[in-house]
Amino acid sequence: QRYSQDNAGEKMNPFAEQEAWEEHQMGKADMKYGSKNKKQISDDYQYVFEDQIDFVKASVMDGDEFDEEPNELLDKPKEKLASEMLQEERKTLPIYPYRDQLLQAVQEYQVIVIVGETGSGKTTQIPQYLHEAGYTKQGKVGCTQPRRVAAMSVAARVSQEMGVKLGHEAYCTSEKTILKYMTDGMLLREILSEPNLESYSVLMVDEAHERTLSTDILFGLLKASRNPSIYDLIKFRSDLKLLISSATLDAEKFSDYFGSAPIFKIPGRRYPVEIHYTKAPEADYIDAAIVTVLQVHVTQPSGDILVFLTGQEEIETMEEILKHRTRGLGTKIAELIICPIYANLPTELQAKIFEPTPAGARKVVLATNIAETSLTIDGIKYVIDPGFAKVKSYNPRTGMESLLVNPISKASAMQRAGRSGRTGPGKCFRLYTLYNYHKDMDDNTVPEIQRTNLANVVLILKSLGIDDLVNFDFIDPPPEEALLKALELLFALSALNKFGELTKVGRRMAEFPLDPMLSKMIVASDKYKCSDEIITVAAMLSVGNSIFYRPKDKQVHADNARMNFHLGNVGDHIALLRVYNSWRECNYSTQWCYENYIQVRSMKRARDIRDQLEGLLERVEIELTSNLGDLDSIKKAITSGFFPHSAKLQKNGSYWTVKHPQRVHIHPSSGLAQVLPRWVVYHELVLTTKEYMRQVTELKPDWLVEIAPHYYQMKDVEDLKPELQSSIIY
Ligand code: CDP
Ligand code: MG
Repeated sequence: QRYSQDNAGEKMNPFAEQEAWEEHQMGKADMKYGSKNKKQISDDYQYVFEDQIDFVKASVMDGDEFDEEPNELLDKPKEKLASEMLQEERKTLPIYPYRDQLLQAVQEYQVIVIVGETGSGKTTQIPQYLHEAGYTKQGKVGCTQPRRVAAMSVAARVSQEMGVKLGHEAYCTSEKTILKYMTDGMLLREILSEPNLESYSVLMVDEAHERTLSTDILFGLLKASRNPSIYDLIKFRSDLKLLISSATLDAEKFSDYFGSAPIFKIPGRRYPVEIHYTKAPEADYIDAAIVTVLQVHVTQPSGDILVFLTGQEEIETMEEILKHRTRGLGTKIAELIICPIYANLPTELQAKIFEPTPAGARKVVLATNIAETSLTIDGIKYVIDPGFAKVKSYNPRTGMESLLVNPISKASAMQRAGRSGRTGPGKCFRLYTLYNYHKDMDDNTVPEIQRTNLANVVLILKSLGIDDLVNFDFIDPPPEEALLKALELLFALSALNKFGELTKVGRRMAEFPLDPMLSKMIVASDKYKCSDEIITVAAMLSVGNSIFYRPKDKQVHADNARMNFHLGNVGDHIALLRVYNSWRECNYSTQWCYENYIQVRSMKRARDIRDQLEGLLERVEIELTSNLGDLDSIKKAITSGFFPHSAKLQKNGSYWTVKHPQRVHIHPSSGLAQVLPRWVVYHELVLTTKEYMRQVTELKPDWLVEIAPHYYQMKDVEDLKPELQSSIIY
């Protein structure tokens, strides 16, 4: 026993021990895991017990009254059709007994708030019930999800249940679509071309408790009551039904917002969950999670494990280490099937998490927040919760947006724990102490609208003709400073004129489902005749920084392969372009990706995005032209979107951003990290141990004045004197 429970209160806060995960974020942590790994593999089976983590059982989350789960399905004769099985399975869901009551309520009221535990059948069943009741005769039933993966996975499931082809009746834009699962962002963009949403008869805004930016904006558009307009959709389209569904109990707030809409509660089946806390803070939560997975695997009765991690990189790291360790243990332990799930995971790999676990084996699902409420995975009995999530935060003063790993809220922690008690009593292992739970976690997660850059939303609202943003009826208003900052940026990008009206450039930018700086870069590529290259760069940047693969045992090879794309110090944007073009030349070969240490999953996603962007070019009448011979033109197009992100080298090797001076550094993963050009333009800032610029390209300072004369004057690009500047920072 390493620590006792009593002194847990005196222990330091694990969240103060940021080093471990900061390093991890920068990719350094791999080395640390690597060395530990070796030792443990050779120590063999023993270590599972040696290195175990002590948990204290602190509480039990009550289950509801329930009958033993009926086990009918197991007895069904095998020759039954799969679709018949699915129809019967549908009837076992908690929502089924309330089907008629629910349909009755939809008929009676225009707006209903629906609350039910995750897994009760809200997302998959309600749209089908509505279809069965005839609502799809007058228009589509649309259902929004905060995440793409969730939308695709439920669409696939529902098509299966309905016995139809995915992409026809469910989820797609074809004529025949009757049920449409999409992200909330997609619906928001649809309103741009179809302001009354007349092709819909019912809208279900699902997972409303997540309070994503797009959900909040949709709410505002559906109910713009303070300044009635056609966007007061609920009044304007009295035939449109609106269902708001939520897994948690913030339903009152939604109900109040929509004029005391009735709340429909679906009683869930919930089994008790034992909650265990670590006795002492864990400095390295990935390592702790790995140890806990193995501990559960070796000591606990059958049942699958769900681990909550913060992102793709972390999931891939953990997947790799777990594979390595279980391989080392060989046949001494039962089979452990590792299933990753995160937003960028290609569809064909997502299905794996829903496949039943073979007898004798155990499944461990490594998931991001997506598994908190949006996805239901059957068979989970154990949840491992490190207590962190990646959240966006925004500093309106500097205009800096960063993605930070932060402690989750108590509400999230409860949701996570609940995932283990869906089909029987469960256990949740929290990799933090009870003290930390009370001391360091907020009650609820702050809605995204209050911690994000609003430039994108402002652009959408402006193109919908909503000018009075201050009086827009937000469910929770964004900080005024953030609104002003967004207007300022859009003005700088020439998307708005000085009266705050949308310009032609702004109108074209609004067509792209991207951040305004990326959209501006694309619109500007028309002038530099390099739209072909620029949409590739935009697609690659949109995938995030998961293009290059750097396995622990082959770091040198991987780095060499990566540097090949950087030859001539062309900068990270052009390197990304080269990666994509080389892959395309090899016929999008998977083998090529392996040979060059490129993540094929990410490339497929980039290709997907690029195809979409190519389609949109036509809509804004930009010709697809290539100008690969003229790298400066490509860089100028990039600068046209990203000129607010410029920085100049200082004597000590750090950089100062030109506007809103702030000290920043080139991220170690950049191809220019050793080159240190005098002037650079960067894609984004990430805050880890320092403020790092990620995706950096060299810049000629006179481009700034040439491209953005309203933003930069000659004096800005002449030598900056940091001594003088330092008095006006932040
Ligand atoms: O939306 P809610 O959390 O209330 O439940 P749901 O997503 O409609 O899921 C109901 C049931 O459908 C789950 O318990 C799963 O058994 C099943 N399901 C599935 O097998 N595969 C999916 N992709 C989604 C749901
Ligand atoms: Mg759902």
